[in-house]
Amino acid sequence: MTQEITLTVEKAALEHNIATLRAAVAPAAIMAVVKANAYGHGAVETARVFEGAGVDWLGVADLDEAVVLREAGITAPVLAWLHAPGETFERAAAHDVTPAVSGVEQLEAAVAAGVRAVHLCVDTGLSRNGAVESEWPELFRRAVATHDTVPVEGLMSHLANTSPADDGAQMAAFVRATGMLGDLGVEPRLQHLAASAAGLTFSGARITMVRFGIAAYGVSPFDDRSSAELGLRPAMTMTAPVTTVKRVPAGEGVSYGYVFRPERDTTIAVVPVGYADGVDRAASDRASVTIGDRTYRVRGRIAMNALVIDVGDDLVEVGDEVVLFGDPTLGRQGASDWAAAFGGIAYEVIASLSPHLARRYV
Ligand SMILES: Cc1ncc(COP(=O)(O)O)c(C=O)c1O
Repeated sequence: MTQEITLTVEKAALEHNIATLRAAVAPAAIMAVVKANAYGHGAVETARVFEGAGVDWLGVADLDEAVVLREAGITAPVLAWLHAPGETFERAAAHDVTPAVSGVEQLEAAVAAGVRAVHLCVDTGLSRNGAVESEWPELFRRAVATHDTVPVEGLMSHLANTSPADDGAQMAAFVRATGMLGDLGVEPRLQHLAASAAGLTFSGARITMVRFGIAAYGVSPFDDRSSAELGLRPAMTMTAPVTTVKRVPAGEGVSYGYVFRPERDTTIAVVPVGYADGVDRAASDRASVTIGDRTYRVRGRIAMNALVIDVGDDLVEVGDEVVLFGDPTLGRQGASDWAAAFGGIAYEVIASLSPHLARRYV
Protein backbone atom coordinates (compact mmCIF):
# COMPACT_ATOMS: atom_id res chain seq x y z
CA MET A 1 0.00 0.00 0.00
CA THR A 2 3.02 2.25 0.09
CA GLN A 3 1.81 4.00 -3.05
CA GLU A 4 -0.99 5.47 -1.01
CA ILE A 5 1.32 7.03 1.49
CA THR A 6 2.61 10.38 0.31
CA LEU A 7 5.47 12.47 1.55
CA THR A 8 4.86 15.95 0.24
CA VAL A 9 7.93 18.15 0.28
CA GLU A 10 7.35 21.86 -0.05
CA LYS A 11 10.25 23.37 -1.95
CA ALA A 12 9.39 26.88 -0.81
CA ALA A 13 9.82 25.78 2.80
CA LEU A 14 13.28 24.37 2.05
CA GLU A 15 14.20 27.62 0.31
CA HIS A 16 12.82 29.67 3.17
CA ASN A 17 14.89 27.67 5.67
CA ILE A 18 18.07 28.13 3.70
CA ALA A 19 17.49 31.89 3.45
CA THR A 20 16.75 32.06 7.19
CA LEU A 21 19.81 30.02 8.13
CA ARG A 22 22.06 31.93 5.80
CA ALA A 23 20.96 35.21 7.36
CA ALA A 24 21.40 33.75 10.86
CA VAL A 25 25.04 32.76 10.37
CA ALA A 26 26.30 35.28 7.80
CA PRO A 27 29.05 35.85 6.85
CA ALA A 28 29.75 32.14 7.41
CA ALA A 29 29.14 29.89 4.42
CA ILE A 30 26.48 27.20 4.70
CA MET A 31 26.46 23.53 3.85
CA ALA A 32 23.16 21.69 3.53
CA VAL A 33 23.55 18.14 4.79
CA VAL A 34 21.68 15.73 2.51
CA LYS A 35 22.87 12.39 3.85
CA ALA A 36 20.37 9.63 4.66
CA ASN A 37 18.27 10.39 1.58
CA ALA A 38 18.21 14.06 2.60
CA TYR A 39 16.82 13.15 6.02
CA GLY A 40 14.07 11.21 4.29
CA HIS A 41 13.11 14.06 1.94
CA GLY A 42 14.65 12.42 -1.16
CA ALA A 43 18.34 13.05 -1.85
CA VAL A 44 18.42 14.20 -5.44
CA GLU A 45 15.30 16.37 -5.55
CA THR A 46 16.13 17.98 -2.25
CA ALA A 47 19.76 18.59 -3.15
CA ARG A 48 18.53 20.29 -6.34
CA VAL A 49 16.35 22.62 -4.31
CA PHE A 50 19.20 23.43 -1.95
CA GLU A 51 21.53 23.97 -4.87
CA GLY A 52 19.00 26.32 -6.44
CA ALA A 53 18.65 28.12 -3.11
CA GLY A 54 22.35 28.87 -3.31
CA VAL A 55 23.88 26.80 -0.54
CA ASP A 56 27.66 26.88 -0.71
CA TRP A 57 28.11 23.17 -0.12
CA LEU A 58 26.21 19.91 0.09
CA GLY A 59 27.29 17.39 2.70
CA VAL A 60 26.84 13.62 2.66
CA ALA A 61 28.09 10.81 4.83
CA ASP A 62 29.77 8.69 2.19
CA LEU A 63 30.90 8.48 -1.40
CA ASP A 64 27.92 6.35 -2.45
CA GLU A 65 25.61 9.21 -1.53
CA ALA A 66 27.91 11.72 -3.22
CA VAL A 67 28.02 9.77 -6.48
CA VAL A 68 24.22 9.59 -6.59
CA LEU A 69 24.11 13.38 -6.50
CA ARG A 70 26.75 13.77 -9.19
CA GLU A 71 25.08 11.22 -11.46
CA ALA A 72 21.87 13.21 -11.16
CA GLY A 73 23.68 16.29 -12.40
CA ILE A 74 24.20 18.15 -9.14
CA THR A 75 27.24 20.39 -9.57
CA ALA A 76 27.49 22.15 -6.18
CA PRO A 77 30.59 21.28 -4.11
CA VAL A 78 29.98 18.03 -2.22
CA LEU A 79 31.83 16.93 0.92
CA ALA A 80 31.78 13.29 2.16
CA TRP A 81 33.22 12.38 5.56
CA LEU A 82 32.67 8.69 6.32
CA HIS A 83 34.72 6.21 4.35
CA ALA A 84 34.90 2.45 4.09
CA PRO A 85 38.10 0.75 5.24
CA GLY A 86 40.60 0.73 2.38
CA GLU A 87 38.68 3.39 0.39
CA THR A 88 40.72 4.40 -2.65
CA PHE A 89 38.89 7.70 -3.31
CA GLU A 90 39.00 7.07 -7.04
CA ARG A 91 35.25 7.71 -7.20
CA ALA A 92 35.79 10.95 -5.34
CA ALA A 93 38.33 12.08 -7.90
CA ALA A 94 36.23 10.92 -10.85
CA HIS A 95 33.09 12.67 -9.60
CA ASP A 96 34.70 15.79 -8.20
CA VAL A 97 33.68 14.98 -4.64
CA THR A 98 35.74 16.42 -1.80
CA PRO A 99 36.59 13.94 0.94
CA ALA A 100 37.11 14.85 4.57
CA VAL A 101 39.91 12.56 5.71
CA SER A 102 40.29 11.32 9.27
CA GLY A 103 43.83 10.02 9.15
CA VAL A 104 47.07 9.66 7.25
CA GLU A 105 45.97 6.55 5.39
CA GLN A 106 42.85 8.26 4.02
CA LEU A 107 44.83 11.39 3.22
CA GLU A 108 47.43 9.51 1.23
CA ALA A 109 44.83 7.48 -0.65
CA ALA A 110 42.92 10.66 -1.50
CA VAL A 111 46.10 12.39 -2.68
CA ALA A 112 47.09 9.34 -4.74
CA ALA A 113 43.63 9.29 -6.33
CA GLY A 114 44.03 12.93 -7.31
CA VAL A 115 41.04 14.45 -5.53
CA ARG A 116 40.64 18.19 -6.05
CA ALA A 117 41.12 19.07 -2.36
CA VAL A 118 40.72 17.60 1.09
CA HIS A 119 39.21 18.67 4.37
CA LEU A 120 40.96 17.33 7.45
CA CYS A 121 38.56 15.86 10.00
CA VAL A 122 39.70 16.18 13.61
CA ASP A 123 38.14 14.61 16.66
CA THR A 124 37.72 17.38 19.24
CA GLY A 125 35.79 15.24 21.70
CA LEU A 126 32.96 13.41 19.96
CA SER A 127 35.05 10.25 19.82
CA ARG A 128 33.75 9.09 16.46
CA ASN A 129 35.63 9.65 13.22
CA GLY A 130 38.32 12.31 12.95
CA ALA A 131 41.97 12.22 13.97
CA VAL A 132 42.56 12.44 17.72
CA GLU A 133 44.83 15.16 19.01
CA SER A 134 47.91 12.95 19.32
CA GLU A 135 47.59 12.19 15.58
CA TRP A 136 47.32 15.80 14.47
CA PRO A 137 51.05 16.57 14.13
CA GLU A 138 51.65 13.67 11.74
CA LEU A 139 48.41 14.16 9.78
CA PHE A 140 48.97 17.90 9.46
CA ARG A 141 52.65 17.51 8.49
CA ARG A 142 51.71 15.11 5.68
CA ALA A 143 48.77 17.23 4.55
CA VAL A 144 50.95 20.34 4.42
CA ALA A 145 53.55 18.39 2.41
CA THR A 146 50.99 17.63 -0.32
CA HIS A 147 49.10 20.92 0.00
CA ASP A 148 50.53 22.24 -3.28
CA THR A 149 49.02 19.40 -5.29
CA VAL A 150 45.95 18.59 -3.18
CA PRO A 151 45.06 21.67 -1.14
CA VAL A 152 43.88 21.47 2.44
CA GLU A 153 40.72 23.41 1.76
CA GLY A 154 38.97 22.67 5.04
CA LEU A 155 39.34 21.69 8.65
CA MET A 156 36.29 20.06 10.23
CA SER A 157 35.08 18.56 13.46
CA HIS A 158 31.68 17.70 14.91
CA LEU A 159 30.14 18.68 18.24
CA ALA A 160 28.53 16.35 20.76
CA ASN A 161 25.88 18.99 21.70
CA THR A 162 26.20 17.98 25.32
CA SER A 163 26.37 21.32 27.14
CA PRO A 164 27.72 24.80 26.49
CA ALA A 165 30.80 23.87 28.53
CA ASP A 166 31.43 20.67 26.57
CA ASP A 167 30.87 22.41 23.24
CA GLY A 168 33.22 25.16 24.43
CA ALA A 169 35.91 22.59 25.23
CA GLN A 170 35.51 21.11 21.75
CA MET A 171 35.75 24.57 20.25
CA ALA A 172 38.96 25.20 22.21
CA ALA A 173 40.39 21.95 20.81
CA PHE A 174 39.38 23.05 17.33
CA VAL A 175 41.23 26.33 17.85
CA ARG A 176 44.32 24.33 18.88
CA ALA A 177 44.05 22.33 15.65
CA THR A 178 43.72 25.50 13.58
CA GLY A 179 46.73 26.96 15.39
CA MET A 180 48.84 23.85 14.82
CA LEU A 181 48.01 23.86 11.13
CA GLY A 182 48.64 27.61 10.97
CA ASP A 183 52.10 27.10 12.47
CA LEU A 184 52.80 24.81 9.54
CA GLY A 185 51.77 27.58 7.17
CA VAL A 186 48.27 26.43 6.18
CA GLU A 187 45.05 28.22 7.05
CA PRO A 188 42.14 26.28 5.55
CA ARG A 189 39.55 28.50 3.91
CA LEU A 190 36.68 26.43 5.34
CA GLN A 191 36.74 25.82 9.07
CA HIS A 192 33.60 24.08 10.26
CA LEU A 193 32.40 22.21 13.29
CA ALA A 194 28.89 23.53 13.97
CA ALA A 195 25.78 21.68 12.77
CA SER A 196 22.22 22.92 13.33
CA ALA A 197 22.18 23.24 17.11
CA ALA A 198 25.47 25.10 17.46
CA GLY A 199 24.90 26.98 14.21
CA LEU A 200 21.72 28.46 15.68
CA THR A 201 22.89 29.10 19.23
CA PHE A 202 26.69 29.09 19.54
CA SER A 203 27.88 31.99 17.43
CA GLY A 204 31.52 31.37 18.36
CA ALA A 205 31.39 27.98 16.67
CA ARG A 206 30.26 29.21 13.26
CA ILE A 207 33.78 30.17 12.10
CA THR A 208 33.72 30.14 8.28
CA MET A 209 31.02 27.51 7.59
CA VAL A 210 28.07 25.81 9.31
CA ARG A 211 26.74 22.39 8.27
CA PHE A 212 22.96 22.49 8.54
CA GLY A 213 21.06 19.21 8.49
CA ILE A 214 17.82 19.09 10.47
CA ALA A 215 17.27 22.85 10.50
CA ALA A 216 17.42 23.00 6.70
CA TYR A 217 14.39 20.70 6.67
CA GLY A 218 12.60 23.03 9.06
CA VAL A 219 12.73 20.72 12.05
CA SER A 220 14.07 22.00 15.35
CA PRO A 221 17.20 20.35 16.72
CA PHE A 222 16.05 21.29 20.22
CA ASP A 223 13.53 19.62 22.55
CA ASP A 224 12.51 22.94 24.05
CA ARG A 225 12.26 25.18 20.99
CA SER A 226 9.85 24.69 18.13
CA SER A 227 10.71 25.20 14.50
CA ALA A 228 8.38 28.22 14.43
CA GLU A 229 10.33 29.79 17.29
CA LEU A 230 13.46 29.37 15.18
CA GLY A 231 11.77 30.91 12.14
CA LEU A 232 11.88 27.59 10.26
CA ARG A 233 9.18 25.78 8.31
CA PRO A 234 8.93 21.97 8.31
CA ALA A 235 9.14 21.03 4.64
CA MET A 236 7.64 17.55 4.75
CA THR A 237 4.07 16.41 5.32
CA MET A 238 3.22 12.73 5.56
CA THR A 239 -0.29 11.71 4.55
CA ALA A 240 -2.20 8.53 3.87
CA PRO A 241 -5.86 7.75 3.21
CA VAL A 242 -8.19 5.98 5.60
CA THR A 243 -8.68 2.50 4.15
CA THR A 244 -11.20 0.99 6.55
CA VAL A 245 -13.70 2.40 9.02
CA LYS A 246 -15.54 0.24 11.51
CA ARG A 247 -17.50 0.44 14.69
CA VAL A 248 -15.94 -1.42 17.61
CA PRO A 249 -17.94 -2.27 20.74
CA ALA A 250 -16.64 -1.39 24.19
CA GLY A 251 -14.10 -3.94 25.43
CA GLU A 252 -13.22 -5.34 22.02
CA GLY A 253 -9.47 -5.76 21.43
CA VAL A 254 -7.84 -3.66 18.70
CA SER A 255 -4.69 -4.69 16.80
CA TYR A 256 -1.95 -7.09 17.95
CA GLY A 257 -1.86 -7.98 21.61
CA TYR A 258 -5.09 -6.11 22.33
CA VAL A 259 -3.18 -3.38 24.15
CA PHE A 260 -6.18 -1.18 23.38
CA ARG A 261 -9.75 -2.04 24.29
CA PRO A 262 -12.10 0.95 24.02
CA GLU A 263 -13.98 1.84 27.18
CA ARG A 264 -17.08 2.65 25.20
CA ASP A 265 -18.35 1.85 21.71
CA THR A 266 -16.23 3.76 19.24
CA THR A 267 -15.27 4.06 15.60
CA ILE A 268 -11.80 3.11 14.47
CA ALA A 269 -10.13 3.97 11.19
CA VAL A 270 -7.32 1.99 9.64
CA VAL A 271 -4.43 3.92 8.05
CA PRO A 272 -2.09 1.95 5.75
CA VAL A 273 1.13 3.08 7.43
CA GLY A 274 3.29 0.82 9.53
CA TYR A 275 6.79 0.18 10.73
CA ALA A 276 7.83 -1.17 7.33
CA ASP A 277 7.35 2.39 6.11
CA GLY A 278 9.65 3.72 8.82
CA VAL A 279 7.11 4.61 11.49
CA ASP A 280 8.44 3.59 14.90
CA ARG A 281 6.38 0.86 16.52
CA ALA A 282 7.20 2.30 19.94
CA ALA A 283 4.76 5.13 19.12
CA SER A 284 1.96 2.53 19.37
CA ASP A 285 -1.04 3.72 21.37
CA ARG A 286 0.62 7.11 21.97
CA ALA A 287 1.11 9.10 18.76
CA SER A 288 -1.59 11.28 17.24
CA VAL A 289 -2.61 12.18 13.71
CA THR A 290 -5.02 14.69 12.22
CA ILE A 291 -7.93 14.46 9.82
CA GLY A 292 -9.05 17.91 8.80
CA ASP A 293 -8.80 19.98 11.96
CA ARG A 294 -9.39 17.08 14.37
CA THR A 295 -6.65 15.23 16.18
CA TYR A 296 -6.98 11.50 16.83
CA ARG A 297 -4.92 9.10 18.86
CA VAL A 298 -3.19 6.07 17.39
CA ARG A 299 -4.63 3.12 19.27
CA GLY A 300 -3.25 -0.36 19.78
CA ARG A 301 -0.02 -1.60 18.29
CA ILE A 302 1.36 -0.16 15.10
CA ALA A 303 1.71 -3.09 12.70
CA MET A 304 4.02 -3.63 9.75
CA ASN A 305 1.70 -1.98 7.24
CA ALA A 306 -1.13 -0.46 9.24
CA LEU A 307 -2.05 1.57 12.23
CA VAL A 308 -5.42 2.21 13.81
CA ILE A 309 -6.83 5.48 15.09
CA ASP A 310 -9.76 6.00 17.40
CA VAL A 311 -12.13 8.59 15.94
CA GLY A 312 -14.83 8.26 18.61
CA ASP A 313 -18.22 9.11 17.17
CA ASP A 314 -16.91 11.38 14.43
CA LEU A 315 -17.87 10.77 10.85
CA VAL A 316 -14.74 9.55 9.10
CA GLU A 317 -14.89 7.87 5.71
CA VAL A 318 -12.72 5.61 3.63
CA GLY A 319 -10.47 7.85 1.54
CA ASP A 320 -10.30 10.70 4.06
CA GLU A 321 -6.81 12.11 4.21
CA VAL A 322 -4.89 11.44 7.41
CA VAL A 323 -1.96 13.72 8.16
CA LEU A 324 0.62 11.83 10.19
CA PHE A 325 2.92 14.79 10.61
CA GLY A 326 3.63 18.13 9.01
CA ASP A 327 3.89 21.76 10.02
CA PRO A 328 2.52 22.19 13.57
CA THR A 329 1.61 25.80 12.86
CA LEU A 330 -1.03 24.38 10.46
CA GLY A 331 -2.56 22.33 13.27
CA ARG A 332 -0.76 19.11 12.45
CA GLN A 333 1.40 16.93 14.59
CA GLY A 334 5.07 17.69 14.09
CA ALA A 335 7.88 15.21 13.62
CA SER A 336 8.84 16.20 17.18
CA ASP A 337 5.42 15.11 18.47
CA TRP A 338 5.93 11.68 16.92
CA ALA A 339 9.40 11.55 18.40
CA ALA A 340 7.99 12.35 21.84
CA ALA A 341 5.45 9.55 21.39
CA PHE A 342 8.15 6.91 21.07
CA GLY A 343 10.82 8.53 23.20
CA GLY A 344 13.05 9.35 20.25
CA ILE A 345 14.20 12.42 18.37
CA ALA A 346 12.66 14.15 15.36
CA TYR A 347 15.73 13.19 13.32
CA GLU A 348 14.67 9.55 13.55
CA VAL A 349 11.11 10.28 12.47
CA ILE A 350 12.12 11.82 9.16
CA ALA A 351 15.34 9.94 8.42
CA SER A 352 13.72 6.54 8.99
CA LEU A 353 11.02 7.01 6.36
CA SER A 354 11.33 4.28 3.77
CA PRO A 355 12.98 5.36 0.53
CA HIS A 356 10.19 3.47 -1.27
CA LEU A 357 7.48 5.89 -0.19
CA ALA A 358 6.17 8.26 -2.85
CA ARG A 359 7.63 11.72 -2.54
CA ARG A 360 5.88 14.63 -4.15
CA TYR A 361 7.62 17.98 -4.56
CA VAL A 362 5.37 21.00 -4.68
C1 LIG B 1 29.46 15.59 10.40
C2 LIG B 1 28.08 16.08 10.43
N1 LIG B 1 27.84 17.39 10.19
C3 LIG B 1 26.60 17.91 10.21
C4 LIG B 1 25.50 17.12 10.47
C5 LIG B 1 24.15 17.76 10.51
O1 LIG B 1 23.64 17.73 11.81
P1 LIG B 1 22.24 18.43 12.14
O2 LIG B 1 21.20 17.64 11.44
O3 LIG B 1 22.15 18.36 13.61
O4 LIG B 1 22.31 19.82 11.61
C6 LIG B 1 25.69 15.76 10.73
C7 LIG B 1 24.54 14.91 11.04
O5 LIG B 1 24.56 14.08 11.90
C8 LIG B 1 27.01 15.23 10.70
O6 LIG B 1 27.24 13.94 10.92
